[in-house]
Formats: sequence, structure tokens, C-alpha cells
Amino acid sequence: MTEERSAAALVVDGLTKVYGDGTRALDAFEMRVPAGSFFGLLGPNGAGKTTVIAAAAGLVRAPAGKLFVFGHDAVMDLRARLLVGVAPQEVHLDRFLTTRELLVYHGRYFGMTRRDAGARADELLRAFDLSEKGRTKPHRLSGGMRRRLLIARALVHRPRLLILDEPTAGVDLELRRELWRYLRHLHEEATTVLLTTHYIEEAEELCERVAFIRGGRLVAEGTPHELVDHFGGEKLEDAYLEVMR
Ligand SMILES: Nc1ncnc2c1ncn2[C@@H]1O[C@H](COP(=O)(O)OP(=O)(O)OP(=O)(O)O)[C@@H](O)[C@H]1O
Ligand SMILES: [Mg+2]
Repeated sequence: MTEERSAAALVVDGLTKVYGDGTRALDAFEMRVPAGSFFGLLGPNGAGKTTVIAAAAGLVRAPAGKLFVFGHDAVMDLRARLLVGVAPQEVHLDRFLTTRELLVYHGRYFGMTRRDAGARADELLRAFDLSEKGRTKPHRLSGGMRRRLLIARALVHRPRLLILDEPTAGVDLELRRELWRYLRHLHEEATTVLLTTHYIEEAEELCERVAFIRGGRLVAEGTPHELVDHFGGEKLEDAYLEVMR
């Protein structure tokens, strides 16, 4: 393990993914998410963001290239799996479990004791203002509540790297602010946060560094300030539009 790899929460090195139907979702994609950082991955629909995230979670079959999570091979090494929590873009929640059971089962899956998983589930239900919905089945929650539950689920096993794929899509303004506050709090407690979003101002507000992806390739990376300096304009959105043009 090199020094550089050990210092990074996620290293993506020459990652290429061609899906079964021939779609080249990633083309020698490169990205380095420093440990402890708040990092944004931005790009248009179909750019490859969700594919990067799935690969970091060990869920992409046979990608070419390398991925390391805190120095562990994300494809081959199960230790990497334990260090990552993912809140996926699409909401798929088991209809047969209650909200609380869903969190407990997730914890058990990741090797937590029943007691620890139960306590953690209650803690997260409180943190995400879902305590009253603990006995409710997820399909009876509102859309915003389901989003919150997805993030809570990603956190059950206390991952060091939290990955959120469009966490605030379809979330009302108030809840969005609340989620921001919670994510900042996690970040202050040393969790590395990687998120994708189509709200560029959200990334500008939250992220210390951002990467722009287009057509499966990295097209720019830096602090929002650096990117604005380099590509011109006043806001990150201007730089984004310039790069994606
Ligand atoms: N299972 C799959 N089979 C075939 N092609 C796929 C599959 N999943 C994704 N793709 C294709 O790979 C490319 C990248 O998709 P991906 O979901 O990674 O993009 P994205 O950046 O997350 O987009 P969005 O912003 O719309 O969520 C797209 O062309 C998509 O159609
Ligand atoms: Mg996506």
C-alpha cells in the first residue's frame, strides 16, 4: 500500500466499465477523494456518476482499472465493503420489513450484534426524525422520509466513507437544509462524504472539492474556488456550464 493510497478515502485509477449491451459508462476515469473530505461528483445525466459509486461499493461486475477504499481493493477485498455506506439514487426498500427492522437487518448483515444494531437503529431513527415511523413499512413513508431512511441505512454500520447518490433529489427546501446540517455534522466527526447532485449550488455550499465527469471521463477537479478561477464566471455553476459546453 503506498502512502498516497492510505491517505485517500477513495482512489479510482483508470476505471473503465463497458456494460453488457456495449455502453461505455466509464472510460479510464480517475478520481481521488481525500480522507475526511467533503467531495462532490458532478456531471450530466448518463455521465457515469452512479457507475462510479456502484464500483466503489463493489457492485460493478468486472470493471477494468483499480479502486481503493482506504487502501483496500474495492473489487477484491471485503474489508473495503465494511468501510463504505451507500445511499443509492433509486429507492428500493423491502416491503416486508418495518423501518426499524430494515435498519437492524442492515446492521446484522454488516456483522453487528443484535444489541448494537438495535441501539444504532434507534439512534438513527431519532437523528433522522423517523422515530414515530419505526413500525411503519417503508412504502407507507413519504418520499422525503424514504430518502432520509436510505441515508440512515447507509450509516448503520458506521462507515468511514459515506456515499450519497443524489440525496436531495425531490426533497423539500426545509428538509434539504436539515440534511445539509446533518451531513456537515458527520463530516466534522471525520466521516468522508462523497455525493452526487444536479444542484450545483448545493455542491458549492457543501463540498471542499468537486470533480466534473462527462462521458465517463474526468474533465476537471479542484476546490469550487479553483474551478471558478480556472474556468471563469462567478459561481461553480458558471464553471460547470463552461466545462460541459
Ligand atoms: N445496467 C446497465 N446496463 C447498460 N447500461 C447502463 C447500465 N447502467 C447504466 N448504464 C449506462 O451507463 C451510462 C452511465 O450511467 P450512470 O447511471 O452511471 O450515469 P449517471 O451519471 O449516474 O446519470 P444520472 O445523472 O442520470 O443519474 C449511461 O449511458 C447509462 O445508460
Ligand atoms: Mg446516477
